[in-house]
Amino acid sequence: MAQLAFFWVSFARPFARFCGHMPAGSDPIPRAHAPLAQGFVWTALAAALSAGFGAAALLALLLGFELPLADWWLPLVQVHGFAQAFGWLGLFIMGVSLYFVPRFSGTPLRWPALQQAIWVLTGAAMLGRLTGQLWLSGEPGNGAGAGVLGLAGLAGGLAVLCYLLLLASALRRAPRHQAITQVKPFLLTALCGWLLAGALGTGAALRAALRGEALLEAPWHRLSLDLFAALVLLPVAFAFSLRTFPLYLRLAPARWPVRPFALFYLAACALDFLPPLLWPGATGLTVQGLGKALKGGALLVFVWNLDLLLRRKLPWTAEQELPSQPRRFHPPTRPGMPDYGEFGHFERLLQAAYLCLALAGLLELWNGIAALRGTDPPWVPDALRHLYLAGFGTLLLLGMAPRMIPGFVGRRRVAHPWLVDLSGGLGLAAALSRVAPVALAPFLPEAYPALATWSSYLFGVSGGLGWLAVACLALNLGATLAAPRAGEKAA
Ligand code: HEM
Repeated sequence: MAQLAFFWVSFARPFARFCGHMPAGSDPIPRAHAPLAQGFVWTALAAALSAGFGAAALLALLLGFELPLADWWLPLVQVHGFAQAFGWLGLFIMGVSLYFVPRFSGTPLRWPALQQAIWVLTGAAMLGRLTGQLWLSGEPGNGAGAGVLGLAGLAGGLAVLCYLLLLASALRRAPRHQAITQVKPFLLTALCGWLLAGALGTGAALRAALRGEALLEAPWHRLSLDLFAALVLLPVAFAFSLRTFPLYLRLAPARWPVRPFALFYLAACALDFLPPLLWPGATGLTVQGLGKALKGGALLVFVWNLDLLLRRKLPWTAEQELPSQPRRFHPPTRPGMPDYGEFGHFERLLQAAYLCLALAGLLELWNGIAALRGTDPPWVPDALRHLYLAGFGTLLLLGMAPRMIPGFVGRRRVAHPWLVDLSGGLGLAAALSRVAPVALAPFLPEAYPALATWSSYLFGVSGGLGWLAVACLALNLGATLAAPRAGEKAA
């Protein structure tokens, strides 16, 4: 009976309402905002510590120290990419957006219970991909392994559909004048990105399952992950940075044409992704070069306008008269910041993340210009992909999670601010040691072979460093949640 009720609340009722089979009024919109579904946070951390950074640690160690690679190596690479993008970054994005967007738009989530279904299904997809792909790598054609992989593909696709249903309903009902309007084009881009990346990922997993193969078709699998980075991660990060950084970092409010910029960014991405599919060959590559150059330029324009790195503009507080601080109860706030240091130096992680994004923009622009001139792009896709995902995405998350999650769950601070700094240092070291050896490999002078060897060892430890960074975040969030809520006395 309980399962039936869960199914009704989670799937059947929203679906019936969405398709118009349930009369309006039979499913009233909740009046209060839903609390954060903590399952998103814990499943994201579990995905990162196992198939994400856990697998990365193993993969990099084998590659960097030139140890033998087994049959499961390539399938594990694919599982790692999927778990990092859709699990680690994706689940955080889902959880935070389902918390924030209804609050920005002033309309509570229509079916809050659906949130549980989303993180459970995504967690099942991670587990299924890991088990199914590794099983099939040992026994190609094994029916049970193929079944697990197929079910994992379906679970991932269904999770994305449920998320889209929930978020689209919140966005559709958002009044025009609300704080969401300026960043809405980014959120709509992200909805399209989820749909495309999710559909491609599901399709590729189902196809591999039907063939009984451990490996998904590489071009479609990679396209799904690259679409996730360009159309989900970046637009969502842009939207949340514009809305929250003035509050968290006292940046100036966005007074530049954000909506036209969002359309320009989308057009640049279309030029980057579509031409090789529409016109394979030289023409497609040249038009793609134009897309890459425009996208790289757009990223640099965004970083410049956000003003996090250079701080050229006056903070929004310069225009306000703030009440004097209650010195009896608190120490003074940090210079230029609204907090007392109770979230660690999270701003350094955000700056490091945007530095990675600026670098990615520069390299993308460089590659684009090279393609337009008909020469080979100097920067390899793997280095750029990790600059976006391990550099920008992961550092942003390692900085934003300790700043936001305590407030979402009624705590005023993180349990250990020093762990935020430690995870930041480890995360930055992981990103640099993951990206630099691959990006710089073609440029290392052959006269010094020791440089190549040490660079390879650096790569070999990068996954372990990333794992430690996430472990610090998990420990810190666990201890923060174990602390009493603001206003409650410890037992
Ligand atoms: C710093 C730690 C990391 C290490 C050591 C690492 C290691 C690797 C390795 C060895 C590969 C295979 C590259 C190849 O095909 O030659 C790979 C691919 C990939 N990684 Fe990472 N990675 C790390 C972090 C991340 C993060 C944080 C993300 C995303 C949030 C990510 C997403 C991906 C993706 C999407 C692929 C492509 C998968 C595929 O081609 O099937 N990685 N990574």
